[in-house]
Amino acid sequence: MIKLFQIVGVILLVVLIGIQFVRPQKNNGGYESIMYFENETKPSVQVASILKESCYDCHSNQTQYPWYAEIAPVSLWLEEHIEHGKEHFNVSEWKTYSVKKKDHKLEELIEMVEAEEMPLESYTWIHGKLEEPEKSMLLQWAGLARLQYKNQLQVSRK
Ligand code: HEC
Repeated sequence: MIKLFQIVGVILLVVLIGIQFVRPQKNNGGYESIMYFENETKPSVQVASILKESCYDCHSNQTQYPWYAEIAPVSLWLEEHIEHGKEHFNVSEWKTYSVKKKDHKLEELIEMVEAEEMPLESYTWIHGKLEEPEKSMLLQWAGLARLQYKNQLQVSRK
């Protein structure tokens, strides 16, 4: 029995060391890519900092990696979240979104933040949840930012 545990232990160790060689590509396109989004949606300094600390890690081309992100399988797990998050909503690609899509993404943002579905739960284990007044600041900003897109949509419908 002891022998079996030893064998399994050694195999696990070898696998764990082996996967360290799988290095996902880093999401580090730089914060300049976020400028377009912030110029258009005009977050206050506080809101911009909430976005940076709680959202951009998975929703932009720039992630602030914690030290443990270097270690597989954590690195692979983070990579998966970042890829998946960016696929749905990427502020670094805001320029390429249609007005309708921009409005819709902000609408979803409001829903997600209200329902506390964002940031992802696993992210809040380390970074903490959004607390008041951060939540209301974010919601207020998103609501205001939507107005310009709603107006543009109305004008183009006429
Ligand atoms: C740890 C990564 C992570 C963080 C941090 C994070 N998100 Fe997400 N987000 C995701 C993933 C993954 C999805 C897509 C899957 C899903 O809907 O659960 C998503 C989906 C979304 C969507 C939906 C887009 C769509 O088309 O359905 C919005 C909006 C959103 N996030 C906003 C935010 C906001 C705002 C914050 C910060 C308050 C945030 N997210 C923080 C990973 C993250």
